[in-house]
Amino acid sequence: MHCIKKVTDDLVWVGANDRRLAFFEGVYSVPEGVSYNSYLLTDEKTVLFDTVDKAVRQRFLENVETALKGRKLDYLVVHHVEPDHSAVIPDLIRQHPEIKIVCSARVLEFIKQFYEFDIDSRVHLVEENDTLKTGKHTLQFIMAPMVHWPEVMFTYDSSAKILFSADAFGHFGALNGALFADEVDFAKDYMDETRRYYSNIVGKYGTQVESALGKASALDIEMICPLHGFVWRTNLSEIISKYMLWSRYEPEERGVMIAYASVYGNTENAAEILACRLRDKGIKTVIFDVSVTPASEIVSAAFKWSHLVFASTTYNAGIFVTMEALIYDLAAHNIQNRRVAVIENGSWAPTSGGLIREILGKCEKISILEKTVSIQSGIKAAQLSDIESMAQAIAADFPAPAGAANNKQTVPNTVDPNTMFKLSYGLFVLTARDGNKDNGCIINTVMQVTVTPIKITIAVNKANYTHDMIIKTGKFNVSVLSEKAPFHVFQQFGFKSGKDTDKFAGSTEVLRTANGVRYLSEWTNGVISGEVKETIDCGTHTLFIAEVNQAFSLSRDASVTYQYYFDNIKPKPQPPKGNKKGYVCKICGYVHEGDTLPDDFVCPLCKHGAADFEKLQ
Ligand code: FEO
Repeated sequence: MHCIKKVTDDLVWVGANDRRLAFFEGVYSVPEGVSYNSYLLTDEKTVLFDTVDKAVRQRFLENVETALKGRKLDYLVVHHVEPDHSAVIPDLIRQHPEIKIVCSARVLEFIKQFYEFDIDSRVHLVEENDTLKTGKHTLQFIMAPMVHWPEVMFTYDSSAKILFSADAFGHFGALNGALFADEVDFAKDYMDETRRYYSNIVGKYGTQVESALGKASALDIEMICPLHGFVWRTNLSEIISKYMLWSRYEPEERGVMIAYASVYGNTENAAEILACRLRDKGIKTVIFDVSVTPASEIVSAAFKWSHLVFASTTYNAGIFVTMEALIYDLAAHNIQNRRVAVIENGSWAPTSGGLIREILGKCEKISILEKTVSIQSGIKAAQLSDIESMAQAIAADFPAPAGAANNKQTVPNTVDPNTMFKLSYGLFVLTARDGNKDNGCIINTVMQVTVTPIKITIAVNKANYTHDMIIKTGKFNVSVLSEKAPFHVFQQFGFKSGKDTDKFAGSTEVLRTANGVRYLSEWTNGVISGEVKETIDCGTHTLFIAEVNQAFSLSRDASVTYQYYFDNIKPKPQPPKGNKKGYVCKICGYVHEGDTLPDDFVCPLCKHGAADFEKLQ
């Protein structure tokens, strides 16, 4: 029986899931299965986007016929000829011999390599930016070579603002009834498998992925339909921002991934001790036994974490087999831009460390700690101190935890401003309107103070233009940002002045509450309208006490906290190149180079003062 899902009024998902596949491409375990997506557009012409793997051939063919509702199939667009998407083309041709196959010259070449049928009489060749009108819809074709194979092409439906993205933005894991990413907790349940898919399938081709992202950024995209995994119709930045990081080989998290290969447990012991010493210093760690965890998971973790430690015993005068496979795998996947440390073990001739260095040393922008910790069989006191030294050398790349340098809390009458970050601040877009001028800024202090009537307080920096507008009009909106808010929202509303910038530039929807003030519906989970009843002058800030006259929820997404923003949204400051000295703004990441930072220094980006800067380590 068919199993199809509606995507839009005239687009249907006709793909299928495979939960019996042991290894995707014969290499990558897929314990949660995989989906092969195909989409049917029913316009004046009917258009099928790709087919599926042969394992789900029967279900797919039935799906297509059901979605066609007796109509003939006019076009098949082929984005990618890898057989997990093309294997059923010959079957489709037999059922719809009149079909036209829309593809690039390179796709045509690959189809001829894989299959034998008369394609020349059916082909409709397209080149970069060619278009095809199918009725209401206009399809634009965009070449995306090496995302994942050289023939790959995207299609942009400019009428529906849908990008058909081939393998890009896909993930391992079957669809379990849901089709859209917003129907599930994607970050919690699917991001790891998305990273594992990206890093292992297209990780090698970061430059080409960046190039494809560049082309896509010029398009107005409201929906992404990939060939594997969920369709994206909201919060596209959640997945696009990850692709931007991954394609540039930038780590997602500051922390240390330790992978070890150990025969009798002594190398494992070293890895565990190092992890403990790092955790003692407040640094996040994850550990993998390369003989147990599949390499694809470790490759994926290497794309996530900023620091990588490889600990391997020596075996047959080389690197232990599972570690050797991993190291070559990482090099093959073009791992770069990481800080690496090496631990070796060898009872009579430890060589694994030097060999690991040799292989990874050829990768781009890999900096390896000078000293290898070398163990001969078991760990002795000397190695303990070597491991501690390694932990210290790694920790030097990380900012010291606030207050760790000394016990300031025990010093009477001192105020450590970092302690203020312990308060559970949220982050909000505060908006106001004065005549025809709409404006907004980021604030972190909104609190309910009474219930009947509901009153809130907000504290607003007097330097903000929004502050002056609220003083004048007495009206404002608070849009509560969620954890899904991308960094550019903070840049747009927090790092620029409304006096010389349109804070709503680029936003197509103009949404206002009853008080006439704009609000944000995207990346927010609720909106509160306030009418000012009292003001209190607090020096740099004004405290507004306001009555709430409208409030509504927009989503169930968690509200973002200051801590979450720092840990997950704000890009991490990059280590200074060479021996540069300076100070980094903890709010926005701006780096001020120099030996000293004047007390009255103000961040040129986010306008926070010297107290919010810390010395580059
Ligand atoms: Fe899903 Fe590159 O094939």
